[in-house]
Amino acid sequence: MTNADNKLWSGRFAQETNALVDEFNASIALDCRLYRHDICGSIAHTAVLEAAGVLTRKEARRIIAGLKAVEKEIASGALKFSSGMEDVHMAVEAALTGKIGPLGGKLHTGRSRNDQIALDERLYLKDELYAIISLLHALKTAVVETAERGAGSVMPGYTHLQRAQPVLFVHHLLAYYEMFKRDTGRFIDCLERTDEMPLGSGALAGSPYPLDRRYAAKLLGFSRITENSIDAVSDRDFILEFLSSASILMTHLSRLSEELVIWSSQEFGFIEISDAFSTGSSIMPQKKNPDVAELTRGKTGRVYGNLVALLTVMKALPLAYNKDMQEDKAPLFDTVDTVKTVLRVFAPMLRGMKINAGRMLVATEAGFLNATDVADYLVKKGLPFRQAHHVAGRLVAYCIKNKKMLKDLAMDEWKGFSILFDSGIKEAVAIQNSLNARKVYGGTSIKTVSARLKAVKAELRKGL
Ligand code: ARG
Repeated sequence: MTNADNKLWSGRFAQETNALVDEFNASIALDCRLYRHDICGSIAHTAVLEAAGVLTRKEARRIIAGLKAVEKEIASGALKFSSGMEDVHMAVEAALTGKIGPLGGKLHTGRSRNDQIALDERLYLKDELYAIISLLHALKTAVVETAERGAGSVMPGYTHLQRAQPVLFVHHLLAYYEMFKRDTGRFIDCLERTDEMPLGSGALAGSPYPLDRRYAAKLLGFSRITENSIDAVSDRDFILEFLSSASILMTHLSRLSEELVIWSSQEFGFIEISDAFSTGSSIMPQKKNPDVAELTRGKTGRVYGNLVALLTVMKALPLAYNKDMQEDKAPLFDTVDTVKTVLRVFAPMLRGMKINAGRMLVATEAGFLNATDVADYLVKKGLPFRQAHHVAGRLVAYCIKNKKMLKDLAMDEWKGFSILFDSGIKEAVAIQNSLNARKVYGGTSIKTVSARLKAVKAELRKGL
């Protein structure tokens, strides 16, 4: 069989394609997952062709029925894409023609695979963005519920991973809520820019048929149509934006994972991940490993890699479509899969995690987390902060040397460091006071944190 017999574009070719090129060129193994969106786009395009008078009503009906039948057969597994097919667009068209005959060849009128793939990817990403935004809502809910389970617990807040100041466990976890809330916002922004309909742009210069692009947008549920046909077929910003937002989300998940790994170590013991979300060791019988958190941290690497891969593919491409762009599929699909899997497993892991308030309290009491409060106490008595900081530092050194905690010091010991100390200092260095002193908006006092918790729960109820 000559090449001209088996390829949709083979008219101008005299030689058969080298088998290696066929294999190298094909994207069907990956883009077959777009078949639903591809068919959906084709159905809308058929309706637009009919409205433009390019297809008769009867022809349009037959094509649409054929496309629906093809979709059913693919979904049921009855129709398998042959590996000889280049991509999903060719495979669907070939299947359609196999079903309804030469009429199937009219479907591609006024369209190019260049605007077709841009459309398919936008349709696909919109669906996935909705799914990811809803999984993020479930994660935020799990974060807040976990925070609430630990309500009242105090833990050391850290800087440089050194104990710094006491904070409420709720406050610490709600920091992650704020991150995930921003992530949601980024995905919503991304949705906004993905929501543009490129069909009608043709190969790059637009279609010569009087296609009602707004009608296509309406049929396909898009809010807007793209403005420039050259941009429309060469733009992958919406994917880059998704990959960037996904990378930032993974950064947050990775940071939380890192904390869970540290907190579940025997050295910390702040939390215990449930057996159902831990794994064992094949050699050390005593081990219980936080694999879910570790893998999340690890998978962050591939999501970053996917972003860098596509940025690099796109960086020097001349307008408009270039085959390089076919390389957008693997990073896109892999990121969607990775993010969804991680979000799915992370929320229930948080829910099942045990919070050891006792261990956190012990850690908060040791390590002079109230040293700043000592300095602030002296500031209230009129000492400039810099000097107060120095006095508090000397007190800490004294305590370390004498194996004491600040709260154990006798009044004359305090006085030995500054005559400004009086009986009020005992109260000032109590953990509860250290916390509640920080009642500035956004701070860790019980009052401010409870108010934020209430507001956050209201946000979640509104579905945000
Ligand atoms: N498989 C191609 C891709 O994913 C579809 C567009 C191909 N266009 C072309 N002119 N070869 O990018």
